[in-house]
Amino acid sequence: RACKMASGSAALSVVAVAMAAALLALCGSTEAHTQFGAYNKTCPQAEDIVFKEMTAVVAKSPGLAGSLLRLFSVDCFVGGCEGSILLDSTTNNTAEKDSPLNKGLRGYDVIDSIKAKLEAACPGVVSCADVLALAARDSVRITKGPYIPVPTGREDGNRSSAADVTPNTPKPDASITGLITFFGKFNLTAKDLAVLSGAHTIGKAHCSAFSTRLYNFTASNNISDPTLDANYTATLRGQCAAGDLATLVDLDPNSGTTFDLGYYRGVAASMGLLSTDGALLLNEDTRAYVTCQANATAPAEFFADFAASFINMSKIGVLSHHKGQIRRHCSAVNPLSASSQAPVTMGAHAAVLLASSFVSIVALALVL
Ligand code: HEM
Repeated sequence: RACKMASGSAALSVVAVAMAAALLALCGSTEAHTQFGAYNKTCPQAEDIVFKEMTAVVAKSPGLAGSLLRLFSVDCFVGGCEGSILLDSTTNNTAEKDSPLNKGLRGYDVIDSIKAKLEAACPGVVSCADVLALAARDSVRITKGPYIPVPTGREDGNRSSAADVTPNTPKPDASITGLITFFGKFNLTAKDLAVLSGAHTIGKAHCSAFSTRLYNFTASNNISDPTLDANYTATLRGQCAAGDLATLVDLDPNSGTTFDLGYYRGVAASMGLLSTDGALLLNEDTRAYVTCQANATAPAEFFADFAASFINMSKIGVLSHHKGQIRRHCSAVNPLSASSQAPVTMGAHAAVLLASSFVSIVALALVL
């Protein structure tokens, strides 16, 4: 039985997602902004370079898979998937990465080293926003999750302001209604919320992200969140002593380095680490999705749902058609002297230009 949700579309099978991807690739583009294999002509080895680097990185430091997946989602929610999370602060500007809410983000150096390899192979071609998207989808694949055929062709933005972070980050104690509204601002449904929260099947959270649930749930001390399983609360107290804000704990208590159904099994058993994970049980539709996946015998449906919702998220606020640039270094906008033009790819845009040139030549020939 499929884990359908009233507010979401019917789940597609992995085969259906792959077929849709192939069809869209043949047609050229998903929409005006991004397309499958945007670098096929300009840097055919780009996706292989990212995958090879990510495989080596995760083999050495398995924890970085989760960090890179999260980095991409934070980039998309704050100002769109345009690489703004990677920009460093300057003398006149405090960037997103220096917002106190983003202090825990990790993996910037991985993006920089992948980008250096891409610049050596194809200078000025692959955007930092796409490096983030590809590294995130490879994190999923390498941890035994689905292969996600993510469209590329995003350009990099110039703006990164710490002030944009708070309004575009869900609050740690957000209610389920608040979370659904938050996702709605980005055209993401309650189903996308239930599905994308499944990213917490890999990676870790600092004790600071959930210690209130263990020690200070109400105003009085040593009161824990009653919605959290009592044994799990005791285990977590063992991992995070009161006042310890720095230790990292697996978000999925069942299998923190494998992309599987362990997250849903944990949440369904009142072992969702973050308050926002537990909140999925407080709405009829999101609860139905969680319990259905928790009881599923195979991850195929979750994988297909995740691929579809990931692609939805990867379209937020994309820049294209030279509205952005291809940054040479992901941590800084290009100096004015360097070319800030994105390479022109043969898409609908170029086809229109070609067609109009042809019409002009014919018109000129007729006049002459
Ligand atoms: C429902 C909204 C979400 C909330 C409230 C939320 C919140 C959080 C928090 C508080 C952490 C722990 C950060 C830390 O302590 O360092 C975290 C980690 C993580 N999040 Fe989310 N998140 C949400 C959605 C997402 C989405 C959409 C994705 C990706 C598709 C994602 C992927 C991750 C991953 C992989 C980690 C582990 C990071 C690591 O190991 O470094 N999250 N999230």
